[in-house]
This record gives sequence, structure tokens and C-alpha cells, in this order.
Amino acid sequence: DKAGHRHFMSKEIAEQPTVISEAIANYVSEEARSIRLPGEGIDFRALNRLTMVACGTAYYACVTAKYWFEQLAGMPVEVDIASEFRYRQPPVTEGTAALFVSQSGETADTLAALRYCAGKADRILSVVNVAESSIARESDLALPIHAGAEIGVASTKAFTCQLTVLLLLALKAAHARGRLDDDALAERLLTLRGLPAALNQAMSIESSVETVAQRIANANDVLFLGRGMMFPLALEGALKLKEISYIHAEAYASGELKHGPIALIDEKMPVVVMAPSDALFDKTVSNMQEVMARDGKIILITDQAGAAAAGDGVWQTILMPDVNPMLAPILYAVPAQMLAYHAAVARGTDVDQPRNLAKSVTVE
Ligand code: M6R
Repeated sequence: DKAGHRHFMSKEIAEQPTVISEAIANYVSEEARSIRLPGEGIDFRALNRLTMVACGTAYYACVTAKYWFEQLAGMPVEVDIASEFRYRQPPVTEGTAALFVSQSGETADTLAALRYCAGKADRILSVVNVAESSIARESDLALPIHAGAEIGVASTKAFTCQLTVLLLLALKAAHARGRLDDDALAERLLTLRGLPAALNQAMSIESSVETVAQRIANANDVLFLGRGMMFPLALEGALKLKEISYIHAEAYASGELKHGPIALIDEKMPVVVMAPSDALFDKTVSNMQEVMARDGKIILITDQAGAAAAGDGVWQTILMPDVNPMLAPILYAVPAQMLAYHAAVARGTDVDQPRNLAKSVTVE
């Protein structure tokens, strides 16, 4: 049932405020002062390293979470693609928790990576949507994301729910490791509680994203740029666009522009810059100037302050509500999803069942 939407993907994008509020309610205590985990939970004081492994969009959720675990909890984190990790024979040292993220819980490479870690890692954790899945069953602790069934092959609400649960886990780790005291944790949880409302507000950008999407629908290539936590979001935006619109898209960390991809820039190249006005924004502005000096077309996804600071020359701006920097990656997933969706609709592709792709990749 598409609930009045033309595609499951659009329904699933629209569901995000609701499912995320459910995910938060499942982990955060009534008075928003503590985080409850199922079963025995995790003792983050006993761990000195986190290894996160996944595929596709779930992998980008892990790359985003690395920033949270490092910045909030001061925890060393490794992130890897399951198909690489499983054959590389990486050493799993004492004090390591291995964390596997998967919507389906059945992805062959992720499951094989989990089995490689079993008996080596101190704890096997998973963040899954399907609670009865193989990955959930074979974990010491499975954390459900409560996204509900996701039908569209392009993952949307599962991604933002994965991010929400990973952020909660990073906050839990920060508290356990003495980086956040009780009051500081409560303050962060209160901020997190505001996320569904911010997502609701972000839904109103849809018509402006649609206009931009129609303008890039005939492009052959699109470049996505982001810094800090917006880098994995750029990766996710590029994956979404190529999956469903078949437009070739690539993502780079903004700082890598000079190291190669700038050679691609010309008047035909749309460059999507994902950049809330944070501490790194000035650096992003200089990257944009480098693109504009070569006639590249900038699509800037930012907030009011960012739009003002960006100055003239930006081709299209998608204006986002202001958001706490900790929550920005979750909120900025929305325009990335909408851009891909509307570009695909404009090109007339099969949005929910893109060619050559399966919802769950159970063979390597
Ligand atoms: O079920 P999983 O989360 O393990 O699936 C991983 C990837 O196959 C999946 O995220 C894929 O990249 C999506 N089609 C992305 O939209």
C-alpha cells in the first residue's frame, strides 16, 4: 500500500519523521535522561575499539557514525566494506566490538564478515531492520531500527533510522566512557528528541528539490561534495542518484577536489555541495569558488546562514532548516533522497525496482 504516494520510495521518504520518532522512543527513557539497550546492553568501558562493517547505504551509515563515535565518545573506530573485510583477514584485537549494519539482515558479505569476527571480537553487535534475520540471530546483541518494512530498492528510511540508532549508541558510549555526564547526556537526548520535528520541516523543501532535480535530469554526470559528516552524506547522495536515475554520480570529500576531480569540472557538470553552515563552511566556500571559476554549476544544500555566506555565483540553492550539527547528517539525507527520487521520476525510470538491483543481496 503506497498510502496515496506514486512510489514506495516517496512514501518511505515521507515516513521518516514518524519512524524516527518511534526509533527514539524505543531507546530513550521517558524523561529523556538515559538510553536503554535490549538485553544486557553493552559495557563500552570494557571496549577499546569499534569495527563497523556493512555494504552500500548501510556502509555509509557506518562512515557517518565513525565521526560520532570519535568525536563524542573518543573511541577509535574502523569502518569497512563487508566484501573487502571478509577476505582481508584483518586482525581483530582484544577489546574490539564488531558492529554490523544491515537493513535486511541477510546481506551475504555482511553475514560472512560477522562470521569471521565470531570468536575473535569481544562482542558481536548488529543494527538491523529485520529483527528475525540471520545477522540479528548471530549477534550477541541486535539493535532494531524500527523503520518498518522498506519496499523501495533504494534505501531511505532505513538509512536515517540506522543513523539514529548509531547516534544513540555513540551517545551511550560517550556517557559510559565519561565524555558526557548525566546532564550533558540529557541535553543531547533532548536535542535528539527535536529531530522528528526538524525532519517534518525538511519535508517542505520537496517542491524546490523537484525543480532542481528536473534541471539535472539530463546531465550525464553529477559530482557530490561534502566535508566532515557531510562527506558520507555526499557518498549516499551519489549512490541514490545512480541507483534509481542511472545518472553517473560520484562523491568526494571537498578537500579532495584539487587532487583530481576538479579536472572534470566544466559548464555541463552539476556539483551538489552538502554543507550546513558549520565550523568547516568557509573551507567549503573556497571549494565552491574553485568550481565556479571553471563554470561548474553549484547546487548548494545549506541553511539560511550558509546561503548568505556562499555569496553570488551559486546556480541553485536548496534551503534547509537550521539544525544542531550533531543531527545534520540525518536531516541532510532528506534532500539527497528527494533529489534522486525526482531526477528518476523526471527520467521515467522504474523508481522502486531499478534495473539490475535486488532489495536484498544474498549472494556475493
Ligand atoms: O540489507 P542491507 O542493508 O545489508 O543492504 C545493503 C545494501 O545492499 C543496500 O544498502 C543497497 O546499497 C541499497 N540499494 C542502497 O539504496
